[in-house]
Amino acid sequence: AGGRQPAPDLAGRRVVVSAGGTREPVDPVRFLGNRSSGRQGVALAEAAAARGAQVTLVAANLETALTAPLVEAGVRVVDVGSTAELRTAVREAATAADVVVMAAAVADFRPSRTPGAKIKKTQGEPPPVIELVENPDVLAELARDRLSPGQVVVGFAAETGDAAGSVLEHGRAKARRKGADLLAVNAVGDGRGFGAVDNEVTVLDAAGDVVAEVAGSKRQVADGLWDAVTKHLSVM
Ligand code: CTP
Ligand code: CA
Repeated sequence: AGGRQPAPDLAGRRVVVSAGGTREPVDPVRFLGNRSSGRQGVALAEAAAARGAQVTLVAANLETALTAPLVEAGVRVVDVGSTAELRTAVREAATAADVVVMAAAVADFRPSRTPGAKIKKTQGEPPPVIELVENPDVLAELARDRLSPGQVVVGFAAETGDAAGSVLEHGRAKARRKGADLLAVNAVGDGRGFGAVDNEVTVLDAAGDVVAEVAGSKRQVADGLWDAVTKHLSVM
């Protein structure tokens, strides 16, 4: 209720959105995870459905309370846990999608081994060392493989400025590195981004040039991003 009534400009389009944060098992009872709330991805799925799209949400460890309204709105929700599961679900859905938006916070690393039994403390023994290996870059793979002709591939990047560069400089470098058609760069830190209500996003193209700036609620950011995406979609 409230807000603008969006045009059904995504009618007939199939879109895939990943949301949430992946969890990498350490042993049967533990995982490595992150603090992504999943709310931006949920807002993207909601906004796309409201604009007429056929939406698949690949939900990484999202609470049912967050996804149930989407199911009500006709969104297909595929629950996943680890990055490997997310990758499989996203790629499967992407084979028939016009747009894929990777809003999920994907774990960069996973434990190289996952014992089948719980890791125990042993008196007098040093703590275990968890060796990590790098996960596949799902977004970069999608940008490389182009699983469906004409598909628009979109990434998200939460950045902080540091000694090596500003938020925008880091975003630019990432946009060029990933090869996605669009990269939504979100400044985090100081209460912005992760878990916060309001958002500020700069949308870059594959060359790293700014194509849009969107601010406001996660839903407003979502609609701003879909506006940018529709400009990239070829005529049906
Ligand atoms: N991403 C992905 N697979 C990964 C890591 C990231 O698909 N293994 C996607 C995210 O879903 C997001 C985009 O890549 O859309 C940017 O994620 P980010 O963590 O900012 O980029 P990284 O390449 O992992 O770089 P960094 O070292 O800054 O974390
Ligand atoms: Ca990362």
